[in-house]
Amino acid sequence: MVEFPGEKSPMTRYPDWNEEDAKTIVAAQQERGLLAVLSALNEKFGYLHKHAVGVAAKALNLSRAEVHGIASFYHDLRERPPGRHVLKLCGAEACQSMGGDALAAQATRELGIGFGETTHDESITLERVYCLGLCACAPAALFDGEPHGRLDQNAISWLIAEAQE
Ligand code: FES
Repeated sequence: MVEFPGEKSPMTRYPDWNEEDAKTIVAAQQERGLLAVLSALNEKFGYLHKHAVGVAAKALNLSRAEVHGIASFYHDLRERPPGRHVLKLCGAEACQSMGGDALAAQATRELGIGFGETTHDESITLERVYCLGLCACAPAALFDGEPHGRLDQNAISWLIAEAQE
């Protein structure tokens, strides 16, 4: 299985927010810059807790507004904890040309949520990504960090059923 950064397997739960752990992560990443800091916090906790912006801003001597601006720009940096599973559907050109938009519409319809949202039972979070480097296998997706290519309607339904088991 190909490992994609920032995604844990479905068997791995994210830990609860812990400010001391967050400060340790920030200290380890701060020489690499703000985006590295926020990405590391997002990877550790699955999202950026409301106090993450303040912790990062203080350590990097930035304003909270500056940190929030970056945090809200990147889709991979979540504002809320994800569901138990994360389905990321590619919406870039190659996947669009192979029917990706219809699969996206199917996923939102079957789940009853939009992109960036989590189902009420917290079983799955649906996210949009723009090219996974799997264009030759379009339309493509990541399900809990695992790549899936040449998706069709049956495959989308199967992934959703997997997440809801
Ligand atoms: S456009 Fe979808 S994987 Fe490249």
